[in-house]
Amino acid sequence: MAKVITVAQQKGGAGKTTVAAHIAVALSQKANRVAVIDIDPQGSLSYWHKIREEKFGEGYTGLTFSAVSGWRVSGEVARLSKTHDYVVIDSPPHTETEARTAIRAADLIIIPVQPSPTDLWATKATLELAKHEKTPVRVVLNRVPANSRLAATIADELPELADTTLGNRVIFASSLMEGRCATEIDPNCTASQEIKSLVKEILAIVSPVIEEEEEAPKKSAKKKALADA
Ligand SMILES: Nc1ncnc2c1ncn2[C@@H]1O[C@H](COP(=O)(O)OP(=O)(O)OP(=O)(O)O)[C@@H](O)[C@H]1O
Ligand SMILES: [Mg+2]
Repeated sequence: MAKVITVAQQKGGAGKTTVAAHIAVALSQKANRVAVIDIDPQGSLSYWHKIREEKFGEGYTGLTFSAVSGWRVSGEVARLSKTHDYVVIDSPPHTETEARTAIRAADLIIIPVQPSPTDLWATKATLELAKHEKTPVRVVLNRVPANSRLAATIADELPELADTTLGNRVIFASSLMEGRCATEIDPNCTASQEIKSLVKEILAIVSPVIEEEEEAPKKSAKKKALADA
């Protein structure tokens, strides 16, 4: 059965689609079978995946893509769960009903928040929904300018804050324009490192055993190198 990650935030433009695409691609780059579901009628993730198909070829995007209306999400998740390791859901802003169904279907909710008072206030509603459904949550500060004091102040106000913060970086937007993600364009850039760090945090919550198994060989290789030295 797949682990389901829903990216939700009632506030528009917080970075849901950008973060959902980046998480999904980073998970697929770790040799996982990943499905993405777009339940936002704006269809931003659908546009992105269409460009991706034109670029890589249909069936070669590394992701299974599905666009459904909110009320069909639980059926779609159940269907895709059988054949995938992770399902990532991009949800729409401003609609409590859709957000609720996507949150109900999830093992983990990722809530992107930009460092602004209005984003902070809007986050409370999404946090309440997640709390009501008893689903684990990580709030991710997104689009954070360098040395932002406001971001630090806002972080203090937020519960369930992820350790990872995503900076305000052009590559997060420009990569999506060409149907890709930062980790595919430059795996070592700061944006890619931030996404990898976020995915590591996500895996530690939804798939802790798998994460440990992946870490174990690295640790023993390090031990061996030390012993050989
Ligand atoms: N970390 C970032 N750095 C730079 N730009 C970003 C970052 N995250 C998001 N953006 C930009 O911010 C804008 C909003 O992002 P996005 O569309 O992902 O938000 P959203 O929450 O999905 O919006 P909506 O509520 O309309 O669905 C886009 O132009 C996107 O390119
Ligand atoms: Mg969106």
